Amino acid sequence: MTNQQLQQRKQAVIARGQGNLYPVYVQQAKNAEVWDVEGNRYIDFGTGIAVCNTGHAHPKVVAAAQAQLARFSHSCLMINPYAEAVELAERLTRLAPGSSAKKAIFVSTGAEAVENCIKIARAHTRRRGVIAFNGGFHGRTNLTMGLTGKVAPYKHLFGPFPADIYHVPFPMAAHGIRTEQALVALRNLFKVAIAPDDVAAIIIEPVQGEGGFYPAPPELLKALRQLCDQHGIVLIADEIQTGFGRTGKMFAMAHSGIEPDLITMAKGIAGGLPLAAVIGKSEIMDAPLPGGLGGTYGGSPVACAAALAVLDIIEQDNLCQQANVIGEAFAVRLTALQQDFPQRVAEVRQLGAMIAIEFMQNGDKEQPDAALTQQIIGKAAAHGLILLSCGFYGNVLRFLPPLTIEADVLQQGLDKLDVLLRSVLAA
Ligand SMILES: Cc1ncc(COP(=O)(O)O)c(C=O)c1O
Repeated sequence: MTNQQLQQRKQAVIARGQGNLYPVYVQQAKNAEVWDVEGNRYIDFGTGIAVCNTGHAHPKVVAAAQAQLARFSHSCLMINPYAEAVELAERLTRLAPGSSAKKAIFVSTGAEAVENCIKIARAHTRRRGVIAFNGGFHGRTNLTMGLTGKVAPYKHLFGPFPADIYHVPFPMAAHGIRTEQALVALRNLFKVAIAPDDVAAIIIEPVQGEGGFYPAPPELLKALRQLCDQHGIVLIADEIQTGFGRTGKMFAMAHSGIEPDLITMAKGIAGGLPLAAVIGKSEIMDAPLPGGLGGTYGGSPVACAAALAVLDIIEQDNLCQQANVIGEAFAVRLTALQQDFPQRVAEVRQLGAMIAIEFMQNGDKEQPDAALTQQIIGKAAAHGLILLSCGFYGNVLRFLPPLTIEADVLQQGLDKLDVLLRSVLAA
């Protein structure tokens, strides 16, 4: 069966809304390498959107999941719990930034974690309003779609939208949007649309993922913390893309020293098994009544066992430190490209192994080059690379390599990337 044949079969039976970036069908994957059904090899700089931080099919994750699967695969955390979930909650509450006593809940997807944060914040505050940021991405379910700050493709055709959600600008230095503008917009919102004592939560990504890898300035996080403390608002950090060593720390909020009230976790948590969590201050987490949170599969024992192995690997292999080494290697190459193509490369951004390059036309940052980005994605597979795009304007390439990538595979991948980008930029 070829990639093309499978793509035709897929298009006949899977709705176009669940589209795929590459018509490349995976046969096997190992750490940072992926092989398709035709035997072609790719270096994976996307890790299934920041999921396989510990690489594909890490032997320790495979062994942990297999052993758990053989013992039992499901009993339902809400019916007969198991030690793996308790141990994982103990470890995650210890690892989450800040010194407050914390508790956890487990669900299955990132969007579900975000939804539960809003439920918990509303139960705790007895308020309705939620504030999110332009360009933020929080999921595709009805409530999280409402929080997501980008219309196409996430909201288009899907209204009406959930009520009581407000958006304010997210600072983007490259586009002249500063922290002060975000704070002025918040103050205006409190005058124009909703009183602060009617706001349950403010949700922010410490580094916008889908939005384009723009880091939240520490002064913004500090100001949000003060504002939330002043008005009794719950501060939620959405660490779904930034967590588990990706940015050079276990969680990206640790860069700022700010402790959020609730944190969402998913993606890198369990090496590819569907698992997500909310970790937060105990008194807030305990606001909903028993039975108000959870779900049939939330905190699957197989996923929890895999997650415990993931945490061991991150610690034992110093993957936070490794994220910085990998990020630096990318930054050196991408910065050289920026110097060679100053009219087309608007900015290189990097926090640990969350790395991005933004493209523009005519040396003007306000002329985003989404077409160029698409052209690169269109050629990546032929160059043996899996690359992802992102960005409020669709003009950003983002790199999310496994933190376990071997040094020689990383260099090979960077060489391929260099050839690809130079060929497109010089054209
Ligand atoms: C920051 C952030 N929040 C929420 C989500 C939604 O997670 P999921 O796709 O697992 O529902 C994502 C997914 O990309 C994300 O990056």
